[in-house]
Amino acid sequence: MKQKAIICNKYDFYINVPLKDESQRKKNDQSYLHFITTRQDLVSAKCNATKWLLEDLNINEQYSVREYFAGVGIQSTLLQNMLNVSKHKVSDIDKNCYNQLKADTRWTSFKLDGHKAILENESYDIKMLDFPHSSIIHLKRGKWSNFLASFISKPKIVCWTDTSMTYSIKVHGTNYSKELNTAQLKNFSEYFQAMSIWLYQNVGYSIQKVAYRGKNAGYVKAIKGKHNLIEKKFEIKDNLDGFILC
Ligand SMILES: C[S@@+](CC[C@H](N)C(=O)[O-])C[C@H]1O[C@@H](n2cnc3c(N)ncnc32)[C@H](O)[C@@H]1O
Repeated sequence: MKQKAIICNKYDFYINVPLKDESQRKKNDQSYLHFITTRQDLVSAKCNATKWLLEDLNINEQYSVREYFAGVGIQSTLLQNMLNVSKHKVSDIDKNCYNQLKADTRWTSFKLDGHKAILENESYDIKMLDFPHSSIIHLKRGKWSNFLASFISKPKIVCWTDTSMTYSIKVHGTNYSKELNTAQLKNFSEYFQAMSIWLYQNVGYSIQKVAYRGKNAGYVKAIKGKHNLIEKKFEIKDNLDGFILC
């Protein structure tokens, strides 16, 4: 029988592939499938954070969606349930993730390297870049391909994941302020505001929302034009209900 989880207390999520024991593998070699079954607390807070990021979208409008780091399809499930999705294409580089994704026919699935796929300049309303790890340094120096290329097709929304918060701002803040050509950054709110200005100067989009998951990830949403940043914290201990394995 398939293993099931409930996302945000209302959406069904199924694990479609057999789970293998990956506990002996090095952390960087473990798949996202392993992560969701061992770090329910982090996945839970991420689900609630992603839901908040998307919940101001118009449910009467149709959106086409492209996810480049689609993992096991948790965000895909949220997008499908929360929005009126007209077309949905997902991809991931990992074979097991691809097998998991392709078992669900609500979207079309591909095994692709996100680096290259981003450059294809596909036309979608929503682009999701759920990077395994990222910061302004990664974005500017092309760690995940040419990040700004995601905006060329003029999507309505680009969401991505920033994990710079894993370290205190004191550790890399000076480097981030150099990259963003700004005064010394005192906290991550200032970091995202500076990133929003940088984004606006480069592509005419700005960051409308950041959802902070505990102390290790910011889920970021950018839309066209200049906007004030709205922030919300999703502490791990208060968000254990976002992903419940049954
Ligand atoms: C944070 S997880 C994505 C989780 C996913 N959004 C979900 O909701 O299930 C990051 C994913 O990026 C994938 N990944 C890592 N490097 C990649 C690359 N170069 N191209 C595409 N996917 C990659 C990993 O396999 C992993 O599944």
